[in-house]
Amino acid sequence: MSVAHSLDPQCIPRHVAIIMDGNGRWAKRQHKPRLYGHKVGVDSVQEIVECATELGVEVLTLYAFSTENWKRPADEVGGLMGLLKNYLQKELNRMLKNNIRLTCIGNIEKLPSDVREVLEKTMAETAKNSKLTLNLALSYGGRSEMVHAIRNIAEEARAGKLATEDIDEKLIDSHLYTAGLPDPDLLIRTGGEARLSNFLLWQASYAEIYFTDMMWPEFREAAFIQAVKEYQGRERRFGQTSDQVKSG
Ligand code: IPE
Ligand code: IPE
Ligand code: MG
Repeated sequence: MSVAHSLDPQCIPRHVAIIMDGNGRWAKRQHKPRLYGHKVGVDSVQEIVECATELGVEVLTLYAFSTENWKRPADEVGGLMGLLKNYLQKELNRMLKNNIRLTCIGNIEKLPSDVREVLEKTMAETAKNSKLTLNLALSYGGRSEMVHAIRNIAEEARAGKLATEDIDEKLIDSHLYTAGLPDPDLLIRTGGEARLSNFLLWQASYAEIYFTDMMWPEFREAAFIQAVKEYQGRERRFGQTSDQVKSG
């Protein structure tokens, strides 16, 4: 890590989820096309992945493309898909070297077939890696994820594989795209907006939320460390009183 930091190594969030927002506005400020913002945004992704790995974060979920983002102009969608494919091809060796496992959440059937092929190949080749899980949210929406889960649960109930009483939080968890991953501890949104935009609606119930006005292309290592620092200063109560939390 290039930046010296004063983080408590005992209190690193296990799962950090990031809404990487602000690429377009950042580019506009530089009088550049939106796609340029997305390109520089990929450099931020590289840097944050490396930093999270070094800090010992277990899961890093990056919101790269939402179900609603399909409504953007075709050239922007195409440009983003191209950047994703390039990123995966370029980063495979580094993922192997740094013990990074790539996973994804979302309706990936909707991705162009060439992008899906590279994605599936990268996931297969990194499947046994165990340091950081880099989880890309692609064509992801929290509501659509719930529809997908409820359909599967209903199908299992119809087939007699489970009873209504079997439906509890754990069962729902196990039918979400994030099955097997811990809930996010820290949710960061760059770009100045204070909203979830359909991201991890179920899983973020008790995430600590950190909003910053910084645009995603400028969000780098020092900014990430600052966000984790703030997280470390928060008291997570999970509905209990402060005294209860302190007495363990
Ligand atoms: C985030 O940046 C990247 C994606 C949503 C794909 P934006 O493209 O949303 O940038 P702004 O919010 O328009 O500045
Ligand atoms: C959220 O950003 C989605 C991603 C970062 C991929 P948007 O730019 O799509 O969100 P809104 O439209 O401002 O809510
Ligand atoms: Mg945006």
